[in-house]
Amino acid sequence: TAGLDTDRMGQHVIAHDEVVSTQPLAHEAAARGAKEGTLVLAELQTGGKGRLGRPWHSPKGTGIWMSLIIRPAIPLPKTPQMTLLTAVSVARAIREETGLPVKIKWPNDIFIGDKKVCGILTELNAESDRVNYLVIGIGLNANSVAEDFPEELARIATSLRIESGEPIKRARFIQQFCRIFEEEYDHYLAHGFARAKAEWEKHSYTIGRWVNVQTISQRLEGRAVGLDEEGVLMVEDQDGAIHKVYSADVNYRAN
Ligand code: BTN
Repeated sequence: TAGLDTDRMGQHVIAHDEVVSTQPLAHEAAARGAKEGTLVLAELQTGGKGRLGRPWHSPKGTGIWMSLIIRPAIPLPKTPQMTLLTAVSVARAIREETGLPVKIKWPNDIFIGDKKVCGILTELNAESDRVNYLVIGIGLNANSVAEDFPEELARIATSLRIESGEPIKRARFIQQFCRIFEEEYDHYLAHGFARAKAEWEKHSYTIGRWVNVQTISQRLEGRAVGLDEEGVLMVEDQDGAIHKVYSADVNYRAN
């Protein structure tokens, strides 16, 4: 691809006009042996999927709706780090391309101010303890204008165009994301998670805030204090006890 400065990421692109969701298409491609770095893109998703079974609003032409296949040789418990690494990479790409002050809301939402501009949905394919591949779905509101959002989203969602006042070139953004992600990913594979963890914490929306955490097994309130070495969120309660939060809905309140 012209302009693509990578070794693997984005070297194979499967581009569609209209799909239900790029996620199952990426799974099918991966099952057929698609190489690491293969990207599935769509202009429009009729059944875009968000986390926790939620729908993802994916109108035609304004967004970047894409699923990336990676095949990291890492143990299963480390796979959540791939989502954090992706969030760090998207945030970097947005900063470098637009200069906008983006923040990462745990685990993987990208925020500008108090509105969400990008969501990440990671799906894992593994056999017993072995990771076959991951499909990382990225939904970025790129060129939407305010009227493009349904009423219930307008209060909580934004786009790069709304925030910066000008449209972005989507193909260029994807190329830059691929370059940045490959750099972060190669660094991670060679040297581990520490750099991405520090970068995540530096640009975190979550660290320092009071949060309400509702997991299947617990309800907890406290201050988000950081990530542990594995990428698990640590929350300190009123009594100073540290709790580890693996995957849950985190609600925020003003300090
Ligand atoms: C979230 O914040 O809940 C995650 C949203 C992920 C949306 C992307 S768009 C491309 C890929 N295909 C999907 O159906 N979902 C992901």
